[in-house]
Amino acid sequence: NQFTTFNMVAIKLISVSLAALLSCVGALNITTGALGNATIVSNNPPGVVYVATLPTTEFNNPNDPRGNIKGSVAATANPNGIGVSISVSFSNLPTSGGPFLYHIHDAPVPADGNCTSTLGHLDPFIRGETPACDATLPQTCQVGDLSGKHGKIEQEPFLATYSDDFATTSQGLGSFFGNRSFVIHFANKTRITCANFALSSTTTLPSNSNSSCAANSTTTSGAGSSTTPTTGTGAAQFTGAGAKTVASMTSLLGVAALALLL
Ligand SMILES: *[C@@H]1O[C@H](CO)[C@@H](O)[C@H](O)[C@H]1NC(C)=O
Ligand SMILES: *[C@@H]1O[C@H](CO)[C@@H](O)[C@H](O)[C@H]1NC(C)=O
Ligand SMILES: *[C@@H]1O[C@H](CO)[C@@H](O)[C@H](O)[C@H]1NC(C)=O
Ligand SMILES: *[C@@H]1O[C@H](CO)[C@@H](O)[C@H](O)[C@H]1NC(C)=O
Ligand SMILES: *[C@@H]1O[C@H](CO)[C@@H](O)[C@H](O)[C@H]1NC(C)=O
Ligand SMILES: *[C@@H]1O[C@H](CO)[C@@H](O)[C@H](O)[C@H]1NC(C)=O
Ligand SMILES: *[C@@H]1O[C@H](CO)[C@@H](O)[C@H](O)[C@H]1NC(C)=O
Repeated sequence: NQFTTFNMVAIKLISVSLAALLSCVGALNITTGALGNATIVSNNPPGVVYVATLPTTEFNNPNDPRGNIKGSVAATANPNGIGVSISVSFSNLPTSGGPFLYHIHDAPVPADGNCTSTLGHLDPFIRGETPACDATLPQTCQVGDLSGKHGKIEQEPFLATYSDDFATTSQGLGSFFGNRSFVIHFANKTRITCANFALSSTTTLPSNSNSSCAANSTTTSGAGSSTTPTTGTGAAQFTGAGAKTVASMTSLLGVAALALLL
């Protein structure tokens, strides 16, 4: 019909002028959402944790003899409230069809577990899926495009923790995902499995706690550096990146060692 034809012509004109513009400007294509780039959320509420855990039954192939992918996506505000820290853990991934993609999707999974019902990616700035996200400019990507911004699933098991400035645990914003879902896809975008985010806890963050994590930190050493055993005191020596977080543990051990010597 006429309207479609007009649109086609308009789109053609736009793409022709865009191409002309690009050939002048150079090779850089920056795609921005219709509502602009994603905005950094700086008021994420402290201590609020949302977790989405995969179901036991797979959506794509409910009778898969290997069972569903196992794992979860958990997110909480960064300590300064800017962005959220996201921890991803997946295992029992399919043995073919990767690298797998995963995204926050707009709508929750209904009771029947149908991943198609989660609709498209969380995209409050109306950026669209194509062209693919440029991970070096994450503000130009769909807010929900976690694998686009932070890397595809290419290992078994897949474990990752990263910060995302644009997804939020602050209710009321379009980028809020606590009432939504995430979906894992084959490389060809077929949906494998999905899960809903749910409020997991509103307690204080474990980052500053003196709890169980200390138990294993004596084995922690910095990336690439080896731990030199110390003589005399019996206290472990910490080097590199692990050192800061276990500093208090070291002094505790030091005190304990002194007590033993006395
Ligand atoms: C930029 O866009 C053009 C036209 O759509 C495409 O052919 C080209 O591959 C894109 N370049 C990059 C670096 O994405
Ligand atoms: C979006 O961000 C990119 C990269 O920083 C920038 O080049 C572009 O101008 C921004 N677009 C808008 C509409 O702010
Ligand atoms: C997508 O990939 C999966 C795994 O390789 C395959 O089983 C499925 O048939 C593919 N779907 C389409 C639409 O190509
Ligand atoms: C899932 O929902 C879609 C869209 O509503 C529907 O076409 C499809 O048949 C459903 N799939 C299953 C397995 O129920
Ligand atoms: C989720 O919450 C956001 C922000 O409060 C709201 O805009 C959106 O409509 C909600 N989505 C669903 C599926 O409830
Ligand atoms: C450290 O442990 C003590 C005793 O179990 C507890 O009262 C305190 O709240 C803990 N501190 C933090 C930051 O978790
Ligand atoms: C410490 O490490 C052991 C062996 O790796 C593990 O079984 C245990 O659960 C860990 N404990 C804590 C508190 O992380």
